[in-house]
Amino acid sequence: MSGIDDTALWSSLPIPALVIDGADQILDINPTAELFLNASLRSVTGQPIWDRLHVDAPLEEAMMRVRKTRTPLFVNDVDVGTGERAPVRCTLQIAPIHGQDERILVLVTPRELAGRITQSQTVKSAAKSAIGMAEMLAHEIKNPLAGITGAAQLISMNLPPEDLELTDLIVEESRRIVKLLEQVEQFGNLSPPDRREVNIHDVLDRARRSALLGYGAHMKILENYDPSLPMAWGDADQLLQVVLNLIKNASEVADAKGGSITLHTYYDHSFRMRRSDGSGQSLPLQVEVVDDGPGIPPHIADDIFEPFVSGRENGTGLGLALTAKIISDHDGWIGVNSVPGRTVFRISLPMAPKPAKLIKRDRKAGL
Ligand SMILES: Nc1ncnc2c1ncn2[C@@H]1O[C@H](COP(=O)(O)OP(=O)(O)OP(=O)(O)O)[C@@H](O)[C@H]1O
Ligand SMILES: [Mg+2]
Repeated sequence: MSGIDDTALWSSLPIPALVIDGADQILDINPTAELFLNASLRSVTGQPIWDRLHVDAPLEEAMMRVRKTRTPLFVNDVDVGTGERAPVRCTLQIAPIHGQDERILVLVTPRELAGRITQSQTVKSAAKSAIGMAEMLAHEIKNPLAGITGAAQLISMNLPPEDLELTDLIVEESRRIVKLLEQVEQFGNLSPPDRREVNIHDVLDRARRSALLGYGAHMKILENYDPSLPMAWGDADQLLQVVLNLIKNASEVADAKGGSITLHTYYDHSFRMRRSDGSGQSLPLQVEVVDDGPGIPPHIADDIFEPFVSGRENGTGLGLALTAKIISDHDGWIGVNSVPGRTVFRISLPMAPKPAKLIKRDRKAGL
């Protein structure tokens, strides 16, 4: 391996790992396993593994399968005890070691770790189905709502002026619901980005001007641009929506006297995103929207990118969920760092491909 010492790797592995021989006897364990077993490597070497790891499941068959097929195997949700302490729910990974016939690697992942992973996946799929249901509801509610508004308007024609306030309330609140529903629908309708070369500074300028005319009128919006920033690869309209969402949120949390928002761009060539499928993407263009407001309320800080999470009285909680979706459709990354007085939303985007690639792409498209 490129310059990495196998021993260092073995001792850095943060998961208890054991190597056993053809007779299921322990040959080696890593320091994390020493901690897990509360025993030293020397004291366990040569001992049958299942004397040390008390597992509440018959594993003979699994071990035989791994040895025979020479493919790794997962055993989920087993209780693993070590003699001294209470058993812990774990996932076992059993894998043959390349080139060493009988030897097998056993990784013991306590559920705490494994559980966290599945939990976040559950949250994501729950969010997805919540959006699906909300979209369906949005569609269904709009029609009767139009009827209610129409009826209220008809009634208002024959009402004495002092009662008009009530029908006005019906009409106004219905409008508010329709607006909310439209936001929900927009979420589902978002088309994939139409990606081209985009000058991020143009996008930021458009956002800044439009915000200053509306919800950001009480704010100071400052620019701190790196003028040499290369072109990004994205959908200018969708990126505009992202920046507007961030400016809008910052404007909404600032107190009535106003506050300041800084739009900051810079280049960081070392920023790469790794994906679970092993591929990587360079995301060197950095755009930060920084505000000096009160900061994100701690109780929602971990979930602000989830739909329907809002810290505002009249918030729908869709702004950041939409923002995160757009950025992820751009293969980009969004993160946030917030303390009272300084909240930074950072977006990292890929660069536009080099002209040669563009030409190739255009040729392919028959242009
Ligand atoms: N710059 C910020 N400073 C402090 N809190 C923030 C900031 N940006 C977002 N938040 C918090 O995150 C919550 C979620 O934001 P999001 O944009 O997703 O929803 P929303 O603004 O409440 O509603 P919507 O955008 O749908 O109208 C906000 O309600 C707010 O509490
Ligand atoms: Mg918002």
